Amino acid sequence: MNQVGNMPEIRRAVADDAPAITRIIRAAFPEYTPDVIPDVIPTHTTFVAVSGETVVGFVDCFTTYDIDDEPRWEIDWLAVDPKRHGHGIGTALVRAARDAGKESGAKLARGLVRLSNAASERAFEKNDFIRLSDVLALYTSDQPLKSIRSVADTRRSLLIPVTRLHDIVVWIEGELSDRVLQQARHLIGVRGWHAAGALVPRSEKKELKLLEAEGYKHRANYQWYIYRYT
Ligand SMILES: CC(C)(COP(=O)(O)OP(=O)(O)OC[C@H]1O[C@@H](n2cnc3c(N)ncnc32)[C@H](O)[C@@H]1OP(=O)(O)O)[C@@H](O)C(=O)NCCC(=O)NCCS
Repeated sequence: MNQVGNMPEIRRAVADDAPAITRIIRAAFPEYTPDVIPDVIPTHTTFVAVSGETVVGFVDCFTTYDIDDEPRWEIDWLAVDPKRHGHGIGTALVRAARDAGKESGAKLARGLVRLSNAASERAFEKNDFIRLSDVLALYTSDQPLKSIRSVADTRRSLLIPVTRLHDIVVWIEGELSDRVLQQARHLIGVRGWHAAGALVPRSEKKELKLLEAEGYKHRANYQWYIYRYT
């Protein structure tokens, strides 16, 4: 993709872009401090928006598999240099991410958008993503459990190890139970991974209580933005 007018060029990122991507993350999300791991970039589909020699934004995508083993195209990170907001770069990055997913074999692409993040909402909407109505509470734990009494029933729940640009986490999907939540915390300790987390509709009071009882903390609320490939 070439630079058009004042619009930055969008190209696939390479391992050497890691420091520039780290800089963008820190500018956009001051609470995040870890460095992007260069070796992860070639294993993902990461795009950078480049103005001259300078990286001014990026988006990161990869495939995960749901409980029926269906591939999904995850749009995980999206950020633009705050000095360059509002010039269409975020929208162009989401478009590149969405189009790349078509070749992955996934039937859908999805991005998780924090509630009231109007710019991100618009960037997805302008690329024909549909917002799902459920408001989801993200609960995570980075506290490993030393031991577990029994192994969870994995027919109805899924623990998905997800290598992100800066860490490895475990996504918990499907039916939540005390055992599955404990197993996820055990796993992060055994493997040295960063955290385990689950997204639960805010209306599911029983599940929210269970997460709290099992040592998971509420981080923020989100909604899925979905695009179905035809
Ligand atoms: C979300 C983000 C990537 C959007 O990048 P961007 O380059 O500013 O986006 P665009 O210029 O393509 O704008 C997208 C739409 O959002 C609107 N928008 C931009 N900033 C906005 C703001 N602060 N409030 C409301 N709308 C805003 C734009 O007007 C545009 O809509 P329009 O074309 O209908 O006018 C950028 O704001 C960002 O990096 N935010 C911090 C990190 C973040 O929240 N990432 C998303 C995690 S899911």
